[in-house]
Amino acid sequence: MRASPIDFRPAFYPESPYSGLPYALLAPALAGFRLAFAHNHTMTNPTMTTPPHDASGNIVHAPHVPLTEYYQREEDRREWVGEQFDKTAPDYDRVEKILGLGTGPTYRRKILEFAGLKPGMRILDVGMGTGLVAKQAARILGDASLVTGVDPSAGMIRNAKLPAGVTVVEGRAESIPLAANGYDFLSMGYALRHVSDMSVAFAEFHRVLKPGGKVCILEITPPKGKIATALLKGYCKYAVPMLAKLVAKDKDTAQLWRYYWDTIEACAAPEKVMATLESAGFVNVRRTVDVGMFSTYLAEKPL
Ligand SMILES: C[S@@+](CC[C@H](N)C(=O)[O-])C[C@H]1O[C@@H](n2cnc3c(N)ncnc32)[C@H](O)[C@@H]1O
Repeated sequence: MRASPIDFRPAFYPESPYSGLPYALLAPALAGFRLAFAHNHTMTNPTMTTPPHDASGNIVHAPHVPLTEYYQREEDRREWVGEQFDKTAPDYDRVEKILGLGTGPTYRRKILEFAGLKPGMRILDVGMGTGLVAKQAARILGDASLVTGVDPSAGMIRNAKLPAGVTVVEGRAESIPLAANGYDFLSMGYALRHVSDMSVAFAEFHRVLKPGGKVCILEITPPKGKIATALLKGYCKYAVPMLAKLVAKDKDTAQLWRYYWDTIEACAAPEKVMATLESAGFVNVRRTVDVGMFSTYLAEKPL
């Protein structure tokens, strides 16, 4: 039987009026992905990867080496990334819609539910950006006052579309300006590659969570297999920035989305991310993978 691109989507992907066209355009790529992957993982049948128990030598500080096409030294990264997000923030949601083929909000909500976010919990969304995760969290909780978002970019915060009641704080994952033991759940959507030190950030996650609190980190990781990686790279590094050029208001938006792929490719391996979570004191550390490339890291602070 021929693989159709529709088969490739996780069962919960929305049938938006816009979904048909991009999927039709992507049909060859998605069919290629399907052939390249051994499995098609969905959240109803996630792959749970056990982290290494011996974490020595696996602790991640900087998530990737300096990407000198954009900035020269590790010390320059923070300022460069900050400027890019500030400048291009008004374009973020529009380009994210292209990258995620319109499935981003629903996908984020389904992952939060899968990770155990339930009404009554207090959630901290780190790297909140324009609020794509925070908004879905508020929807699940039914009470926006239980949601706090943190982000270092004033531009992203200014462009956030959030329900009334969400608390927003300017700050970084490595130094969260909030009290200890305050949250039941901590989320981070596609921001891990931008922190300066993963192990410091995870120590902060551990500090701000209550005992028994849950961590849910969404990331894109390169798929297994050269063909799948090449197809995803073609899409993320060339097609999305080209489309971004057409729809963006800021001239640097296309560059930021090219950088987006380069950080995915250069980022520390998932096994090391999990080892770093373990070394920060988290237990039950695991990773689920959707469609071969949407990784979710899950962990708990011990009771
Ligand atoms: C790709 S956006 C993701 C936004 C949102 N979480 C989402 O799911 O769409 C990455 C965000 O991470 C933020 N960021 C960059 N460095 C950070 C840091 N050190 N700590 C926390 N957030 C950071 C950026 O300002 C930006 O808003």
